[in-house]
Amino acid sequence: MLSARLSVVLLVVPLLSGNHAPPIFVGKRRSYGVRYYPEAENPATGNPTSVANHLQYCVANSVLNFTGMGLRRVGDFFVNTTYARELYLDGNDITEISETAFDSMKGLEILSVSGNRLRTDKLLWFRYHETLWRLVVDDNVVGDTTNNGNIREMLEHLPRLEHLSMRRNGITRVEIQLDKFAPILNWLDLSGNKLESFDFLVNLPRTMRNLYLQDNGCLCTINNLPSGIEHLQVSGNRIAELCNENCSEQTWLSLKGLKKLRTLTASRDGIRLVSEDAFKDVTQIERLDLSWNELRFYPKTRSLNQLKYLDLSHNQINEVMNLCDSILTSIETLNLSHNHISMIDKNFANMMYLRTLDLSNNRIAILPTLLIFNSRSLEVLLLTNNSIEDIDDLFKKNSFKELELHLEDNPFSVVQYYNFQVHLKQRDARSELTNRVSIESLGDADDDIVNTDDLDDIDDASQY
Ligand SMILES: *[C@@H]1O[C@H](CO)[C@@H](O)[C@H](O)[C@H]1NC(C)=O
Ligand SMILES: *[C@@H]1O[C@H](CO)[C@@H](O)[C@H](O)[C@H]1NC(C)=O
Ligand SMILES: *[C@@H]1O[C@H](CO)[C@@H](O)[C@H](O)[C@H]1NC(C)=O
Ligand SMILES: *[C@@H]1O[C@H](CO)[C@@H](O)[C@H](O)[C@H]1NC(C)=O
Ligand SMILES: *[C@@H]1O[C@H](CO)[C@@H](O)[C@H](O)[C@H]1NC(C)=O
Repeated sequence: MLSARLSVVLLVVPLLSGNHAPPIFVGKRRSYGVRYYPEAENPATGNPTSVANHLQYCVANSVLNFTGMGLRRVGDFFVNTTYARELYLDGNDITEISETAFDSMKGLEILSVSGNRLRTDKLLWFRYHETLWRLVVDDNVVGDTTNNGNIREMLEHLPRLEHLSMRRNGITRVEIQLDKFAPILNWLDLSGNKLESFDFLVNLPRTMRNLYLQDNGCLCTINNLPSGIEHLQVSGNRIAELCNENCSEQTWLSLKGLKKLRTLTASRDGIRLVSEDAFKDVTQIERLDLSWNELRFYPKTRSLNQLKYLDLSHNQINEVMNLCDSILTSIETLNLSHNHISMIDKNFANMMYLRTLDLSNNRIAILPTLLIFNSRSLEVLLLTNNSIEDIDDLFKKNSFKELELHLEDNPFSVVQYYNFQVHLKQRDARSELTNRVSIESLGDADDDIVNTDDLDDIDDASQY
């Protein structure tokens, strides 16, 4: 690996002789991904004598960092160098970038122009560039009222662009065809804008894998996404329904054809309805976050048998009786906290891998003993802040399983444990006095206090 890299360098170095190192030289770039090796600490990647000129070696892959230098305009042939791989122009006052600014930077792969004052309609105003694969133009918000937030035009396309980030720019509309602009785009982040429509998503290239549309507050329908999408983030919009084909609400997200989808984050969207066929095509999904929505029922879905993480916290679900209908056979973490659940289905038995179950902040009145004793894989069970008044059943059975059980903020105040009646807190005083503990001995041991009948029933009922 190392020798391969060095031989490339030796080829490059002669081409560079005669050029000068650029004034802002940061380090060299070793591979895709963003790793920096500041010049001073750089161990020169092996035996320095094998590299004709150490400085030139570094220059050949240079990172130019012009962050926070008060630049206002990026002129023609901004830096006349063919060897820069990464260029950072963040945190300046740039209002304008010349069309030919980067023309001489033939090998440029990463360009970042965040935190400047580029007008929204010029955010994608770039000339054809052969090697650019990552473009970051975040936080270019201008108070200018002539700028209506539309990205209406592009100049030329960027054939290698895979990663495009345009967060928090006040973008209201995207009218260009993104598959023309960036035909092999893989990653698109438009979060934190003010998008008023997601119609432009129809023109995303088929190479798309990661799509981030959160926090646009968009009362919008999302439809016809490219089928290769793996990670989709749409939180903080106004999407009333998840569906496949027959969508009935005013706005919706159609998951039709998203066969590769692995994570979906749709929190804070006002989702009221998950139609039964919503996940029909989404068989590979592993993480699903539907927290802070308005779901009243546990979504009836099938084919979620790859799902490991499901967050339904902060909804209005009042029972989870139909959990057994759903095929959550691989679920590991299930978060149902902050709902209105009072009844729990006995049948968590299908969930062979369930490790963490959060039922805190609900209205559960009866300790779910079946779940506690019979779920083999469960490691953490949160029942904090429910209405459980009696936890005596916990002590009627010898159990050797390990379980972290949270029962804080429940109204029980006395626990019966063999001959002890343990008072844990003052009745009806749930706040300050919660830690007061007193123990009364009830005299000689007599097993009749412990009634094991209930638990025998439980054992009979459990077949797993
Ligand atoms: C560029 O320089 C700024 C400070 O001058 C630093 O915070 C930033 O991390 C640098 N960026 C890169 C990519 O090296
Ligand atoms: C860029 O530099 C090369 C040689 O270093 C020179 O021939 C060329 O004229 C320069 N181009 C511009 C636009 O300055
Ligand atoms: C959608 O609705 C139409 C007409 O109501 C029906 O024919 C079709 O089978 C439905 N499709 C699904 C997937 O439910
Ligand atoms: C469940 O969700 C709530 C609220 O969204 C969060 O505070 C809590 O930490 C989550 N529980 C687990 C076990 O992750
Ligand atoms: C306990 O849950 C109730 C709703 O059931 C909620 O109003 C209250 O704020 C919760 N208390 C705490 C300490 O979270």
